[in-house]
Amino acid sequence: MRVSNCVLLFFTSLLIFFPTISFSINTLTATNSVTNDQTLISSGDIFELGFFSSRSSDKWYVGIWYKNIPERTYVWVANRDNPLSNSFGVFKVADQNIVLLDQNQKLVWSSNITKGSNTAAMLLDSGNLVLREAEDPNNYLWQSFDFPTDTLLPDMKLGWDLNRDFDRYLTSWRSPADPSSGDFSFKLDYRGFPEIFLWDNKKIEYRSGPWNGVRFSGTPEMKPLDYIQFKFVTSQDEVTYSFSVTTNNLFSRLIVNPNGVLQRLTWIPDSKQWNPFWYAPKDQCDNYRECGPYGICDTNASPVCKCPKGFEPRNLQAWNLRDASDGCMRKTNLECMGDKFLHLRNVKLPETTSAFVDQHISLKDCGDLCLRNCSCTAYANADIRKGGTGCVIWFGELLDIREYPSGGQNLSVRLAASDLVMDGENQEEDEEQNPTKMERSKKYKTSENFDPDARRDSPRDTSLETPLRSIANRGEPQELPLFDFDSIVVATNNFRMANKLGQGGYGPVYKGKLHDGTDVAVKRLSSSSGQGIEEFKNEVRLISKLQHRNLVRLIGCCVEREERLLIYEFLVNKSLDNFLFDPSPTKRAELSWAERFNIVHGIARGLLYLHRDSSLRVIHRDLKVSNILLDEKMNPKISDFGLARIFEGTQYLAKTHKVVGTLGYMSPEYGLAGIFSEKSDVFSFGVLLLEIVSGKKVTRFLYNDEYLSLLAHAWQLWNKGKELDLIDEALADSFSSTEVKRCIQVALLCVQDRAENRPTMAAVISMLSSETELLQPKEPTFTFHSPSKFDQPNDNTPSSVCEITMSLAGGR
Ligand SMILES: *[C@@H]1O[C@H](CO)[C@@H](O)[C@H](O)[C@H]1NC(C)=O
Ligand SMILES: *[C@@H]1O[C@H](CO)[C@@H](O)[C@H](O)[C@H]1NC(C)=O
Ligand SMILES: *[C@@H]1O[C@H](CO)[C@@H](O)[C@H](O)[C@H]1NC(C)=O
Ligand SMILES: *[C@@H]1O[C@H](CO)[C@@H](O)[C@H](O)[C@H]1NC(C)=O
Repeated sequence: MRVSNCVLLFFTSLLIFFPTISFSINTLTATNSVTNDQTLISSGDIFELGFFSSRSSDKWYVGIWYKNIPERTYVWVANRDNPLSNSFGVFKVADQNIVLLDQNQKLVWSSNITKGSNTAAMLLDSGNLVLREAEDPNNYLWQSFDFPTDTLLPDMKLGWDLNRDFDRYLTSWRSPADPSSGDFSFKLDYRGFPEIFLWDNKKIEYRSGPWNGVRFSGTPEMKPLDYIQFKFVTSQDEVTYSFSVTTNNLFSRLIVNPNGVLQRLTWIPDSKQWNPFWYAPKDQCDNYRECGPYGICDTNASPVCKCPKGFEPRNLQAWNLRDASDGCMRKTNLECMGDKFLHLRNVKLPETTSAFVDQHISLKDCGDLCLRNCSCTAYANADIRKGGTGCVIWFGELLDIREYPSGGQNLSVRLAASDLVMDGENQEEDEEQNPTKMERSKKYKTSENFDPDARRDSPRDTSLETPLRSIANRGEPQELPLFDFDSIVVATNNFRMANKLGQGGYGPVYKGKLHDGTDVAVKRLSSSSGQGIEEFKNEVRLISKLQHRNLVRLIGCCVEREERLLIYEFLVNKSLDNFLFDPSPTKRAELSWAERFNIVHGIARGLLYLHRDSSLRVIHRDLKVSNILLDEKMNPKISDFGLARIFEGTQYLAKTHKVVGTLGYMSPEYGLAGIFSEKSDVFSFGVLLLEIVSGKKVTRFLYNDEYLSLLAHAWQLWNKGKELDLIDEALADSFSSTEVKRCIQVALLCVQDRAENRPTMAAVISMLSSETELLQPKEPTFTFHSPSKFDQPNDNTPSSVCEITMSLAGGR
């Protein structure tokens, strides 16, 4: 026994191991039992019950798993929070109950019923372990389906048995190897118009939206399928959700995983693996109450939160900082009599636990009913079938609304009549109001926080002007958020070393957590002496106007005493150099070619925006790999833009004639003469591009035991038609050679000595994405070379102003 366990442990990659089984039974009676070396198997060989242990500890459990699925998958655990300390337990029927006893015959777990006689337990092909009397086999005195762990199986009910006041809900495992109760649960709330909530302990993370006859309001992607059918029952006896599978060849289960994600997984015998079929929460707008009361979340908008027509942000400053939790408020209070409705389409209905629902009231009567009650704020159909039937009415604040591109529901929101005719056009009460016409939060900020994508999204949106004017009229200050120094001290643990993210050219950067839990990156500028407060604030305000998806967002600043701090959004995947220059090829290979290519495009777009599309026309002047940060989806964002500008006018720079920039990335004209233009950024971009392709640092490039610049090396390979040799060997063969070749040629065009020969960023983008013939680059002959510098063992490409001056001097 022990030996075979060890062998199994050695050869299996599963997190959980299990003993070999010597024999099996299918029914537990008063005369037999299951121990460590036996299992209970359902009659059709579908499910199996037995002892198992977590690999990481000596804890033992009794659980149910699929008999014929090689990847051991547990669907139920009896004693998840009361494990045995060794495998010597007994699972049997005693005193009419199913019980689990430990080595000392001590009761560890029990089905704990008080009635019944002559009972027996059986594992059914549904995965349900049932306890019943021999005389009445269809009446289950107890069933495991009533006590789910993390898994909902077909024909298992999630929700309430109202007669017994009994709730069945899912609770995650603590970790993939630990079946004890974890933090997350999925629980049906039957108050109002029922819906199901995903909880993280006592906090709601996500809600399904109410059942609309076909699906949950929050899952427009959920469609009745040939093989899986969904069912929601609301009756005097129960409010439950369940699903069934109508073919034998398919296993499907809904789980709450240890990370708090709801997942539906399906197993098709041929594919030999669990396929993710559906999951939630999916995106930012699935976060519970992301946009606060009356706010509408739309993932296609930027920022995602917006206020419906007739509403405006309740806390404009927080809203502009992307904290929309205060939501929206009415511009005009309801008058009760004479109010009208704004008709929204394609939404997830607001939270309905305190809504009123009647399946027999028509939509027309529903609207009338709402108008007659002054505290009614919205109404909708309860069921979307047959063109819409039934009536839901909301009282008070509307919470957690989101909008879908398509597939959502209609919702009528009560508005003061005057707010419906705000644009000067008389909108008919029943006219459809397309939500894309709603005022987006960004429109409030267009003059201050220019978002190019916002414009592109809705070029002809005439409602743009109105809110702007109203803001201007009210004379609301359009200030860059100022943080006070003490709050930043708290946020960064007093700039503790452990919080330090890195050292940039202008000073150290720390990770901080604002009081509302938002993670931020705080740049503590080190060389601001001599700069006036107003002058600094003005510059920062200008920079904060630069907003683009490929730029790191500046969310505020702090100017106090001698301190100058910039507060940026925090990006989880840190900077590109962590991936690109990792010594381990395995780590570098995590950055696939597709991701690298996407990063190249993103950087190019961000740079184009700085050069051309923004209101300011900013030259970055210090573009390099460590200034490219990555978000959770590995999208690149350029950081430190505009900083050169801040320092440009100061005494500090002017007096010392120091050049901002980093060795290796500097164009000849900039490095030698301090002349900078868009084309010096294009040069740096070319270098960056070669680094991304090769996975090698320009400053530490070693080839054939002799130092040769990355540029020269790339040129030589390209000249010999061997440019593919430049590719990062970590990528092996998994890249597109046309894309790689194109990138290298574009890079060589960018790093040409003469600025006028280099393309603009607009041309770069078009060259990267089209199939057209590219120009032939000229050889880059210029190199900043300083072997003494390269010899430094721990060169982490410092860019401090002082060092660069030194290395420039050494280079000539
Ligand atoms: C059985 O039920 C009783 C009363 O509901 C409860 O106190 C006890 O903890 C339960 N025992 C087990 C093993 O679940
Ligand atoms: C409006 O509806 C609320 C909630 O159902 C109810 O408590 C209140 O009495 C109603 N008011 C009127 C005037 O009908
Ligand atoms: C929404 O309302 C429109 C117009 O009244 C109607 O055509 C459409 O079917 C409704 N959609 C749903 C999902 O009820
Ligand atoms: C990037 O960050 C996300 C979120 O933390 C993480 O899931 C992902 O694995 C990271 N990507 C890489 C390549 O490390």
